[in-house]
Amino acid sequence: GEETAAGAALLEWYDRSARVMPWRVGPGAGAHPAPYHVWLSEVMLQQTTVAAVRDYFRRFTARWPRVEDLASAEDAEVMAEWAGLGYYARARNLLKCARVVAFERGGRFPQTAAELQKLPGIGPYTAAAIAAIAFEEPAVVVDGNVERVVARLWAIETPLPAAKPALVEKAGRLTPQLRPGDHAQAMMDLGATICTPRGPVCALCPVAAFCAARPLGIAAELPRKVPK
Ligand code: ADE
Repeated sequence: GEETAAGAALLEWYDRSARVMPWRVGPGAGAHPAPYHVWLSEVMLQQTTVAAVRDYFRRFTARWPRVEDLASAEDAEVMAEWAGLGYYARARNLLKCARVVAFERGGRFPQTAAELQKLPGIGPYTAAAIAAIAFEEPAVVVDGNVERVVARLWAIETPLPAAKPALVEKAGRLTPQLRPGDHAQAMMDLGATICTPRGPVCALCPVAAFCAARPLGIAAELPRKVPK
């Protein structure tokens, strides 16, 4: 149906236009970055922009190439390398998680979102992202970018947070069984570069033909939010 066509158009666009990031191996069926790299990047990206994370990711992986290396580092060394990224509880959980994976799981990350979520510092969003990107689980990955894209595609006018369950349900319909990780990252890239909060560039959007908000002229207004 419509969702499948929209999902296919989005993946075609991602194949042409994916942003280059040090934790990506490039789009395409069968290409997966190392679970360690996916986990590290997703934890770093939890409250920090892609631009800020780039160099931290490079320094961490140069210094600690495997999860076992990070697990064996001194706490103070890791905290010092993290300095500037902020939210230091993330760094402490990062190290806890590395030690569980390295010393209790033989260096292997769990391969499902449900299991990943049991690890320190991995919430529902991060678990879904790692499962999809590293392990091809068709997990529904919903961050702020995805909420915005989905609210516009379906012209969902219910304000957040009440709209959340509907947004997750629609995001699930859009998530393909094949290449769910590329799909998730395509949604993030679309939200970051074209379907932006204030001035969406619908003329360049690969899924403009499927967008309900666009003909209504309300894309830039969505998602609506209840004032806090
Ligand atoms: N934000 C969080 N994870 C991301 C990813 N894998 N690609 C782009 N932006 C992201």
